[in-house]
Amino acid sequence: IPISSMPGQFRLSVDQLTGEAAELKALGVPAVVLFGIPAHKDPIGLENFADDGIVQQAIRALKEANPELVVITDVCLCEYTDHGHCGLLDEAGYVLNDETLDVLQKVVVSHARCGADIVAPSGMIDGMVAAIRSALDGEGYSHTPVMSYAVKYASAFYGPFREAADGAPQFGDRKTHQMDPGNAEEALREAALDVTEGADFLMVKPALPYLDVIRRVKERFPELPLAAYNVSGEYAMLKAAAANGWLDEQRVILETLTGIRRAGADLILTYHAKEAAGWLG
Ligand code: PBG
Ligand code: ZN
Repeated sequence: IPISSMPGQFRLSVDQLTGEAAELKALGVPAVVLFGIPAHKDPIGLENFADDGIVQQAIRALKEANPELVVITDVCLCEYTDHGHCGLLDEAGYVLNDETLDVLQKVVVSHARCGADIVAPSGMIDGMVAAIRSALDGEGYSHTPVMSYAVKYASAFYGPFREAADGAPQFGDRKTHQMDPGNAEEALREAALDVTEGADFLMVKPALPYLDVIRRVKERFPELPLAAYNVSGEYAMLKAAAANGWLDEQRVILETLTGIRRAGADLILTYHAKEAAGWLG
C-alpha cells in the first residue's frame, strides 16, 4: 500500500519481503529497520510479542532470504496499542512506566528468538535500555546489541510516519516522554543515562533540525556508534519540492545525507536508502 505523504514508500506484506531483500542486496543496502502494523490493536498490544506477529514473521522471512542483511527491529508499543501511546496507560491516561518495561522485555526476547540482529527501543521509556539488556542477557541473547533512540525530540516531522504506521495517539501527545526541541543539554543527559544502562548504539532523532545535537552527542560519547534518524517529514519535504521541480532531487538528497554524516552520524536511518545506494553505486 503506497503511503501518500511519503512518495516512493510502501507498506509491505510478508510475502513481498523476499523480493525486497534481493533488491536491497543488489543495491548494497546493509540493514533495515522493521516497523509492524498488526491486524488487531488492543490496550496492551499483544501481537507485539506474539510468535506469529507480523514483525516476527518478517524477521524470519528476511533472514531466510538474505542472511547477511542486518535486521533491526523498532521496539515500542504505539503501533500495537489501540490508544496509540508508547506505553501501557493507567485510568487517568498516564504511561505506566514499569509495567511498560515488562512488555518491552517480552518484545525484544521474541524478536531475538526470530533472528533479529539489533533491537531499537524507540519509546524513551525511563529505564528501557537496562530492562531490555537484562531480558536479552537472561534469555541467552547477550550478543544482541541495543540501539537506543536515546535522544528523541517531540517533533512535528513525524507527521507522515503516523499516517504510514497508523500510530497517532488517539488523545494527548508524547510530550511527557519525548524532548523539548529547545533543550540541547537534556540530550546529553538522556544519552548518558542510556550509556550507563548499556546501550550499544545511540541515536538522535530527527536529524536535520538537530545537527548540533548529533555533533555534541558524538563528541561526548565518541566510543559509541551514533545513528541519526532522517525521519518521515524530512523525507516528505524533499520529495514534495522535487516533485514540483523546485529542487534537484538527487543533489539535495545526497547533500542532506552528507550533512548528517558530516555532523557526526556513523549510521543514517533514512527512507532515501535505496535511491541513495543506487546513485552512489
Ligand atoms: C514510534 C516511532 C515513531 C517514529 C519512529 N518510531 C513515531 C513517533 O515517535 O511518534 C517516527 C519515524 C519517522 O517519522 O520517520 N515510537
Ligand atoms: Zn512509540
